[in-house]
Amino acid sequence: MGLRLLVCVTGILGTVWLVQQPSLVQGAKNSCPLTVRQETKAAKAFKNLAPVFQEPRCLNCHGAVNPFSRTGGHGGGYIDIRKEAQQFLKMPNFQTSLTVGADPDGTRTAKAIAQLREIAESASEISDTDLIRQKAFDPMRKACKECHISSWIIPMRHNHFVGRSATDMCVHMKTSILTNQPDLFLRHMQDDELVREGFKGRRGLLDAIGPEPPTMSFATLEKYANEWIDAMGGKFHRPPDCGCVVHGDYILEFSSKIVSTSKVAPAQSQASAIIRLETKDEEVPNGETKYAGQGMIGYQTGPLPKWNTCDPFVQGKGTVPMRVFQAFIHIDEPPGESMVSPGGSAKIELLYGILGMSQEISTGMHYMLNYKCVTNQPMLDPFWSTMYVSGRGEISTDPMKMFLLKDWTYIGRDGVVATKTLRSTCGGMCDEEVATFTLKEGDGSGDSSPK
Ligand code: HEC
Ligand code: HEC
Repeated sequence: MGLRLLVCVTGILGTVWLVQQPSLVQGAKNSCPLTVRQETKAAKAFKNLAPVFQEPRCLNCHGAVNPFSRTGGHGGGYIDIRKEAQQFLKMPNFQTSLTVGADPDGTRTAKAIAQLREIAESASEISDTDLIRQKAFDPMRKACKECHISSWIIPMRHNHFVGRSATDMCVHMKTSILTNQPDLFLRHMQDDELVREGFKGRRGLLDAIGPEPPTMSFATLEKYANEWIDAMGGKFHRPPDCGCVVHGDYILEFSSKIVSTSKVAPAQSQASAIIRLETKDEEVPNGETKYAGQGMIGYQTGPLPKWNTCDPFVQGKGTVPMRVFQAFIHIDEPPGESMVSPGGSAKIELLYGILGMSQEISTGMHYMLNYKCVTNQPMLDPFWSTMYVSGRGEISTDPMKMFLLKDWTYIGRDGVVATKTLRSTCGGMCDEEVATFTLKEGDGSGDSSPK
């Protein structure tokens, strides 16, 4: 009898502690070689830089103003490129002022003149700036120079900034032939004549008007432009959005252990979950990155090692959904490039919820008949979720704070960012309840379609 009971108990025990680990779904590995931290830094630096592209001093050239359209919003008035082309063609030796490059047999010059005529003789107005730059480049420049500095021209349509998101601009900077190398990009941003002119705030006008420079200072532009490049280790990596978005993510590992020796519900429980936290590209005030995710907690509950036949028999196994509604993760790396050096700090705020109840059954308190225990029919009596939630209630009575995790311990080693441990006695209902949260760097294997 005694031996049989022992065998039976170890049998149960063996299964009790074999809590199922929800397996990580492995997606296609993202090829961006940056770590999540580097990506986060890079994306943040570019996000900080991006408002400069929407400054009126830049934007008005990059798509917002079109002097060749009657409705183009040009302060200097509508410029009829047909008239400009006609006047140009009437100049005594206009051929010598044509920008054609090397032209030994004169075919380029002939082509340029044919194109100018085409513009000059057009029956309808021409407001397409790409067409004008292609076919009437010299009359266009001549026209602008009457009022603006000599290098003043508007960009091609594919270089317009109007209506482009920070991510879009970031990818554009990495792929435009003018900026597709870090040194080209930095040189353009810091030394380009038109960018410099933009910062003077005088609209490139010869007759200077009251200056209206961008609100972002040039020093700030330099700071973020360099920070962006530095965060990527001084290189532009493939794919194009590498260094523009955070592909990777974080992994939250959750585990919970509960032991209760109470007469009502003597049992022990173990539960765990692995939840992938991903960014949504939604805007959060002050530009913070918000992470969220959802997963399943696998739990397993069984009797204590010293269970005897007169105790209630509690048992169950299953899953309960867990959701991380939002998480803000700030990691201040220690100075220096080393990813393993300790001394950084993590400021993390994670709001989560358990979206259901565990489904244990219990035989409850047995009754005695002829000096023997008699078993009741097992009934649904959620153990793990009840104990867990009571434990959180013990720490805080505020239902919101109950699931808000702050004050983590920074680890910064082996991919572990930070940990957080909570302990309770389930509001007096159990002997010990321990919950641990481990935040790890993701491997970027999640679904990472560019946003
Ligand atoms: C007759 C003078 C004149 C000519 C010619 C002229 N502009 Fe202007 N342009 C102005 C004035 C004046 C303003 C500023 C209006 C204001 O204060 O809003 C201006 C503003 C602009 C702006 C907005 C700049 C900013 O920072 O807001 C752009 C872009 C522009 N011009 C492009 C051109 C281009 C391209 C040409 C040649 C095709 C051209 N302009 C020819 C007078 C001229
Ligand atoms: C006079 C009009 C003008 C102004 C003002 C101007 N740009 Fe440009 N920008 C250009 C032209 C022209 C190019 C060359 C590309 C082309 O011709 O399509 C260019 C190219 C660029 C590029 C290279 C990437 C690309 O789009 O291919 C960047 C970056 C850029 N400008 C940033 C700025 C910023 C930032 C400002 C404001 C501080 C600014 N620009 C102001 C006309 C202007």
